[in-house]
Amino acid sequence: MTSFSINGRSVELDADPATPILWIVREQLGLNGTKFGCGIAQCGACTVHLDGRPIRSCSTPLSAAEGKNITTVEGLKSDDGTLHKVQQAWIEAQVPQCGYCQSGQIMSAIALLERNPQPSDEQIDAAMAGNVCRCGMYGRIRTAIKSAAGISQDEGAEA
Ligand code: FES
Ligand code: FES
Repeated sequence: MTSFSINGRSVELDADPATPILWIVREQLGLNGTKFGCGIAQCGACTVHLDGRPIRSCSTPLSAAEGKNITTVEGLKSDDGTLHKVQQAWIEAQVPQCGYCQSGQIMSAIALLERNPQPSDEQIDAAMAGNVCRCGMYGRIRTAIKSAAGISQDEGAEA
């Protein structure tokens, strides 16, 4: 039995502790916002937070969650339905295209701003380098992160 909490809800699961957290989240808990991309910790589509730190859930076993808190994209909004400021910035900057990479991008962006509330362009690029966007929306991702951080935008930041 593995005990953890997810998006504020306590869970006890009788599952193989080697199962990747991604499959627990999607298939056992029905939270489909977290995506499967590469399955080998290379693309970031599966990013969730484990005790506030971004992890690749495709390559992190359920056993790593014992006694810890998982946050997925579904857990970002407040109880009254207000979106997280990063989600709001994402909408304002019209970041998503196909959308497939976006929950992972948002989870990585929030983790960045929690450890560095005023990141430079270089720090944004470094922090987000592990999140691949096949639609190439990197410029808008940077714009949205800076907007959420309250950083004034440079000219020509659009993708
Ligand atoms: S699906 Fe996990 S990093 Fe690509
Ligand atoms: S929005 Fe399509 S892969 Fe990023």
